[in-house]
Amino acid sequence: MDDFYSPVAEYYDLVARAHSEGDTVLRERLAATALNGEPILDLGAGTGRTVAAIAESVPQCDILAVEPAPAMRAVLMHRVVNDPHLRQRVTVVAEPVDKLHLPDKLGAVVAYGVLGHLCREKRQQLWQLLLPRLSAGAPIFVELLPLEKPIVLPAFPLACETVGKRHYTASLQGEPGPDDTMLLTSCWTIRGGPCPAQVIRNQSVWHTFSLAELAQETRLRAERLTAQAGVLYA
Ligand SMILES: C[S@@+](CC[C@H](N)C(=O)[O-])C[C@H]1O[C@@H](n2cnc3c(N)ncnc32)[C@H](O)[C@@H]1O
Repeated sequence: MDDFYSPVAEYYDLVARAHSEGDTVLRERLAATALNGEPILDLGAGTGRTVAAIAESVPQCDILAVEPAPAMRAVLMHRVVNDPHLRQRVTVVAEPVDKLHLPDKLGAVVAYGVLGHLCREKRQQLWQLLLPRLSAGAPIFVELLPLEKPIVLPAFPLACETVGKRHYTASLQGEPGPDDTMLLTSCWTIRGGPCPAQVIRNQSVWHTFSLAELAQETRLRAERLTAQAGVLYA
């Protein structure tokens, strides 16, 4: 698996994703999900934003948080270890989706910001692993970039934050890559404080597809929740 996240993991939480539309709708829908004591899988858990959303919306369930990028996982572990409630409920594993070992039953799956990092073949492997573990009606929550085909994506602002005396600004731009991919480049500029300015560019690959294509792949019913988020029902 390519690790697109570790080089910029320290900046990840400066992008305002908490309290976003996708975060709010995930919390609302999770709170209304009947789990029957089954665990929730958070695929590509990142630094723990989605783990927090799950834990705060469904007070009792166990959470399996899958995060292969070491630097992202380090932040996630820090968050889990230092919160007694999370520490009891969240199991963190490092295996990427194609090497996963899963419990026999899952009550729900959250796959926010991750499926576009998987090619069609890897997604098929994932569905084969997940679908037999989900009871009828169990939800798979997804968040995708709203890019259904590779396009030129002009640079747009991603973050503008101050921490101590350092100012962090970031933009994201994209261009078509091979086949169904977009090559996304984030550019972070860090200024202020006693050190010289730094510019860090990071590239990642995102496979473009729509929620409707995911519904076709899985043969599940899809419901769009926001411009980027949706849910598939097993
Ligand atoms: C955009 S982040 C999303 C983090 C979190 N779900 C959120 O919404 O804030 C995508 C995460 O997916 C992880 N990821 C990428 N490829 C993966 C794979 N093959 N298996 C599991 N996780 C993967 C990355 O390491 C990264 O932390």
